Amino acid sequence: MSHEPFPTDGTAVVTCGLPYANGDLHVGHLRGYVGADVFDRALRKLGQRTAYVCGSDMHGTPIAVNAAEAGVSPESFALEYHEQYRETFPKFDVEFDNYGHTDDGTNTELTREIVRELEDAGYVYEKEIMVAFDPEEGQALPDRFVEGTCPYCGARARGDECDEGCGRHLEPGEIEDPESTVTGNPAEYRERTHKFFRVSELQEYLREFIDRLEGTENAKNQPREWIEGELRDWCITRDMDWGIDYPGEAGEGEDGLVLYVWVDAPIEYIASTKQYSERAGADEYDWEDVWKDDGGEIVHVIGRDIIQHHTVFWPAMLHAAGYTEPRAVAATGFITINGKGLSTSRNRAIWAREYLDEGFHPDLLRYYLATNGGLQQDVDFSWEKFQSRVNSELVGTLGNFAYRSLLFAQRNYGGTPDCEVSEAVAGRIDEAVAAFREAVNDYSVRGVGQAALELARYGNEYIQAEEPWNLVDEDPERAEQVIRDCVQLSVALAVLFEPVAPDTAERLWEQVGADGDVHEASLGAAHDAPAAEFGEPDELVTKIEDERVAELNEKLEQRIAESASDEESADDTDDTDTDADDDTDADTDDTTDMDPEPIADDRISFDEFQALDLRVGRIETAEPIEGADKLVRLEVDIGVETRQVVAGIRQLHDVDALPGKRVVIAANLEKSELFGVESNGMLLAAGEEADLLTTHGDAPVGTKIR
Ligand code: 2FM
Ligand code: ZN
Repeated sequence: MSHEPFPTDGTAVVTCGLPYANGDLHVGHLRGYVGADVFDRALRKLGQRTAYVCGSDMHGTPIAVNAAEAGVSPESFALEYHEQYRETFPKFDVEFDNYGHTDDGTNTELTREIVRELEDAGYVYEKEIMVAFDPEEGQALPDRFVEGTCPYCGARARGDECDEGCGRHLEPGEIEDPESTVTGNPAEYRERTHKFFRVSELQEYLREFIDRLEGTENAKNQPREWIEGELRDWCITRDMDWGIDYPGEAGEGEDGLVLYVWVDAPIEYIASTKQYSERAGADEYDWEDVWKDDGGEIVHVIGRDIIQHHTVFWPAMLHAAGYTEPRAVAATGFITINGKGLSTSRNRAIWAREYLDEGFHPDLLRYYLATNGGLQQDVDFSWEKFQSRVNSELVGTLGNFAYRSLLFAQRNYGGTPDCEVSEAVAGRIDEAVAAFREAVNDYSVRGVGQAALELARYGNEYIQAEEPWNLVDEDPERAEQVIRDCVQLSVALAVLFEPVAPDTAERLWEQVGADGDVHEASLGAAHDAPAAEFGEPDELVTKIEDERVAELNEKLEQRIAESASDEESADDTDDTDTDADDDTDADTDDTTDMDPEPIADDRISFDEFQALDLRVGRIETAEPIEGADKLVRLEVDIGVETRQVVAGIRQLHDVDALPGKRVVIAANLEKSELFGVESNGMLLAAGEEADLLTTHGDAPVGTKIR
């Protein structure tokens, strides 16, 4: 691997975090797959040899738990979703060179080979540990089969991940107060022998690796805390039937152990590259050039909840087994819907299938997701914002410019006027190409889209300022020059927009009568001469009307409400969680006929109530806590002083809108520490949506609540 700017002489691979094959795809998923697809297409435009690979993540408890709930085998459950994903991605022009799955032969074989390589190199040992066990079911409870309290931050957590609190990976046996998610009963801890990977021995290597790593700031910085701290060995086996059998000396499936899903999942990145290479032929693309002998440029695009896996465990495994380390890890933020956390169980999501069924062009969503914010920022999706960006940028800027220019060119000159492009416009195209190139080297998918959009803006201003429609009679030579320039700008726009909006770019490419395929065209083609003759253009992008947005909003609100009432009635009989893994749940509004929780029989005395010091406060500042997906650090003025308070409301409230809000604070609780940040007080809020308590009169900040 080099750290030369792209394009390099080496071979690249772009990967995107494997989706667990356990639920329908939604915009939260698409953000990552579209982002990585844009990046890979942009790399190709630079002339980099590259492949974009991925696959479905079939193993582990995320699949086993959901399959058990559905009453089917994990294999058939996962395969069904795998097929659905394979069909859906191309509908968004997410064009993987290979899309495999972790349970296929290539991955199974390669995983076993790599684990044996780790064993041979002395990186694996056995240890007796305590694992959670459900005595009623007589079954071990790995990972998501157990829930309890995070030993680091005290939040409610899953067996292998503190998903509600500090985001840490948890090792088997670490979770406190374990409860079985199968029966809801308290779980016991029992002793079992498991296999461990000596990550602790790779601390020095990882320290150097993280200094070299490129990508987004969150992926480069967040791991430092883990790598610099006590780096513990990693349990790589589980007591389960579903997974890749541990390839031990006693034969496959030694002691009924399978590999932890996080061992075989990233290996699919290699297996999928290998499958592509075998299909394309090694002359075209050789997977070993990438993955072996410190060879290629590996770029992982992932969700920010899995940074630790990709910057600690995965490079440690690659290094120990003699494979190439990643050059870059780019971690995306989350998606909110109308400012609230995306929730699959509450149906607060925009589903991939729904979007297509509504008849929207995939490029519109691609453009919105790829350019709305930097890759690592959270993106809010609302139909209004979507409409606004599509109408102003794709219709008003790109579409308007191309249509006006090409129609004028066609009607007046039958195509491209017969003169050279002006130096000024050729220079502006060069600037756009340079911005595009820089964006790729900064891992900025948004920058790629912006380079294209800025050129379209320039084109619009240019044609507007020059008014060629007036020049045709007054100064025909100048009119020809302007339109020649505009046609060239249209060619350049087709090239530069291709990664973000491939189908729109292709249609623009055809409209200027260009030869070949815009997907294959390199950046240099931005200066290629357009055809002398072409036909009348069509509108590139259609405007989204207000009525359409109103209708879509109504549908969304309605299904969120329906799913809330379904869930409440289901809660009476079944409180198991069928959420997809990225759920950021919240309850719905107060219009539902929910049964409030019964009031506890035990009364407290007035004195006990008086002991609680509740104060009116005003939020002064609010900022997300880096690396903690749900936490916000607040400065709250409570009259006597300003307190730092950590609250788990990041995905339920618009953080930027919090300053200025009047709130109620429990001021005399013991201090606590969440994700390394001290919390000196607690913000009072109602329900799962964290509806913030406030006062409705003028009680000054600091007033005690009685
Ligand atoms: O968190 C997840 O959704 C995992 N399925 C991602 C796996 S990415 C890779 F390492 F395979
Ligand atoms: Zn935690």
